[in-house]
Amino acid sequence: MGKHLELTPRLRQIAAWVPQNAHLADVGTDHAYLPVWLTLQGRVASAIASDLRRGPLDRARQTGRRYGVEERITYRLGNGLAAVQPEECDTIVIAGMGGENIAQILARAPWTADGGHTLLLQPQSRAEALRAFLAENGYAIRREALVRDRGFLYPVMEAGAGEMTLTLGQQWAGADLLYDPLGDRYIIEKIIQLQAAAAGSNRAAAQSARERGDYARAVITELLQMREEWRHANGPGN
Ligand SMILES: C[S@@+](CC[C@H](N)C(=O)[O-])C[C@H]1O[C@@H](n2cnc3c(N)ncnc32)[C@H](O)[C@@H]1O
Repeated sequence: MGKHLELTPRLRQIAAWVPQNAHLADVGTDHAYLPVWLTLQGRVASAIASDLRRGPLDRARQTGRRYGVEERITYRLGNGLAAVQPEECDTIVIAGMGGENIAQILARAPWTADGGHTLLLQPQSRAEALRAFLAENGYAIRREALVRDRGFLYPVMEAGAGEMTLTLGQQWAGADLLYDPLGDRYIIEKIIQLQAAAAGSNRAAAQSARERGDYARAVITELLQMREEWRHANGPGN
């Protein structure tokens, strides 16, 4: 009997949104747990596991070997999508790295907004920068969910080609999290983060710091309003 691979809740959420028979590219794959699991489950028609660095790619291959699917996955060394051709994949996962890094990877591969690719994105930080990038560059977030994993909250997004306008509050607290059970907690986390930034800027003399403070207060105002909306949507009787 083959070895059993159990995904973490964060990777499980991403896996749940990979369409059956997808042609997958997992960018920044590290241990390749996601493509290996999807291959074991018979969920993907093909899978590319790619990484910027040799060490993670070697780990990816080892995982493939350990679970008996080494030959069914293609391993590529490259920055972002540089080593992946548009026609090789229809589903692209970029997970476990900063939101700005994910945005840069997409910016260097504009074909990801051609309408033929589903993007499953999971930023570890600066999710607001990624959402703003998507809105400004011809992508739309189709759905979004929050996952709690080892005490942290992670947003997972499905995006594709399209048009989307986001308010400042939605850039920070998610495009589609009004009914997410963890939405309230996520909004509170963002408010706390922005309050710290606003407090820091109050003590600074520079004009740019004061502008950052004004920005943080404007976002907080919108987040407080979104929190009311979340409570209304999820309160007793709903
Ligand atoms: C923390 S691991 C995430 C692994 C896996 N995707 C996950 O979500 O569990 C981040 C991986 O992304 C890779 N990475 C970072 N920047 C990258 C880039 N520009 N292109 C490809 N891989 C990158 C790193 O080498 C590392 O292996």
